[in-house]
Amino acid sequence: MTTFTDQLRSSRVVAVVRAQRIPDAVALAEALAAGGVSILELTYTTPDVESHLHAISTGAPGTLVGAGTVLDAAQARGALGAGAQFLVTPAVIEEVAEVAREAGVPVLLGAMTPTEVLRARELGAEHVKIFPAGVVGPRFVKDLQGPFPGLSTVPSGGIDERNARDFIDAGATAVCCGSSVVSAADVEGGRWAKITASAAEFVERATGVAP
Ligand code: 3PG
Repeated sequence: MTTFTDQLRSSRVVAVVRAQRIPDAVALAEALAAGGVSILELTYTTPDVESHLHAISTGAPGTLVGAGTVLDAAQARGALGAGAQFLVTPAVIEEVAEVAREAGVPVLLGAMTPTEVLRARELGAEHVKIFPAGVVGPRFVKDLQGPFPGLSTVPSGGIDERNARDFIDAGATAVCCGSSVVSAADVEGGRWAKITASAAEFVERATGVAP
């Protein structure tokens, strides 16, 4: 069975959608998949996010869809009920980690300091989201390997096609792309071909392999 970790390690890119409107969530997932991105995080700042999670989890079988910006247990339960296959938080949030653990679903807890990284791991995060990654940079990701050898990081925030490879080279398991690939304007405008092209460029620059 392919695990979440396997998929993260092989895909190496997670798209993060933060928009006010998603006109067609399945079309969005398919546009990203066509550009080589098959792991998708829909954030809770997006209205009706649970209906979009449901649409993708039932209508886009090639996409691994998760919920992001999950801030409490109620959202975590709502996301899982809607079909989210993983949860992501911007901070170390114990009650979200608890819901994920009970459900046996992967959770990426957000951390920005070594103390938070340690706490995230104690709470069961197999992969730690480093956020906002653009502020601390690839060197931070690399240096964490000193005290935490083998730590799996997934940097997010401020990553684009120019710096994505630096984070991968610094040891990140995967990198997140938000506005650089799935800008709110492109998502809200249903510009699927543009999103496919941006995703393909990001994947090629991040991994060195054209999708
Ligand atoms: C977010 O919080 O929206 C994600 O980390 C993506 O951020 P980005 O738009 O800077 O990539």
